[in-house]
Amino acid sequence: MTDRITIRRPDDWHVHLRDEEMMAAVVPFTARQFRRAIVMPNLKPPVTTPEQAVAYKARIMAALPADSDFEPLITCYLTDSADPDEIERGFKSGAFTAVKLYPANATTNSAHGVTDIANVMGVLERMQKIGMPFLIHGEVTDHDVDVFDREAVFIERTMTKLVRDLPDLRVVFEHITTKDAAEFVESAGPNVAATITPQHLHISRNAMLVGGIRPHLYCLPIVKREEHRLALRKAATSGSPKFFLGTDTAPHAIETKETSCGCAGIFNAPYAMESYAQVFDEEGALDRLEAFASLNGPAFYRLPVNEGTITLERAPTAVPDTIPAAGSALVPFHAGETLPWRLVD
Ligand code: DOR
Ligand code: ZN
Repeated sequence: MTDRITIRRPDDWHVHLRDEEMMAAVVPFTARQFRRAIVMPNLKPPVTTPEQAVAYKARIMAALPADSDFEPLITCYLTDSADPDEIERGFKSGAFTAVKLYPANATTNSAHGVTDIANVMGVLERMQKIGMPFLIHGEVTDHDVDVFDREAVFIERTMTKLVRDLPDLRVVFEHITTKDAAEFVESAGPNVAATITPQHLHISRNAMLVGGIRPHLYCLPIVKREEHRLALRKAATSGSPKFFLGTDTAPHAIETKETSCGCAGIFNAPYAMESYAQVFDEEGALDRLEAFASLNGPAFYRLPVNEGTITLERAPTAVPDTIPAAGSALVPFHAGETLPWRLVD
């Protein structure tokens, strides 16, 4: 039995760091686990200009622990009125690493998102031309589509056509939650990849709904049936270069989760590597954790792999019930559990 593994330092290709007090509270957790992270732009107001991106990056850097070499990679929030020239300028200057698509009203702070993909075709054509990654929250928002079907219907109605019309566009299908999405990505060209979160590997909708409703397991896209969880575990641990680590860590203060209309988002940053290591261990695939966590993402983003290593050891890690943050508290993923792996400092 493997009791200790050392891998190249990993990156998180999907995080929500927020701003101000909440950012200051959560940044150290991501910076402890990861060397770089793709930072999502769904702030209020959203990050839409290169100048806003540069300023946001500076605020994140100012919130880092003194000895940290963590590097935030900022993304541009796509709106119906985005200008291809400005997006190209942001990419070429390094202000933006990628563009994020939120279908309007799909999730937290997505009111300014795209109402119809036809409105942004000019931007997407430019991104295809300059090789800029396009990160997709892949859910339809139509009221008549069941929340558990919104990812599968997005593949049917939008994704299939998008990759056909823009065959060289570099696409990340973010936080995939279904067998349908895993199969779509696997069968698409090498320029189409996906991130997978810890929660979608650990839990199905029963964990959220049976025996009482657990608001801290509510995120979007919502966790699905068990067959989907199993398909995602297979994809993540398959060794395919198309799948890589993206936690979608999304902090919401406890009182905004434990209420009659709770926010979507799971705060999984503090024990992310422990959580993924458990999955890969259970699947007999610890030898593939490094590709998923540290190699496939940089290859897709055309960035160098990180120098240095981290070590995980088989040792119990107690996850606290709450973590103080911004005058309130956050409930981490796995709260109250003891995880079998530990990230060695
Ligand atoms: O659960 C989610 N929370 N899904 C998202 O897409 C956004 C995120 C957030 O920002 O809270
Ligand atoms: Zn997200």
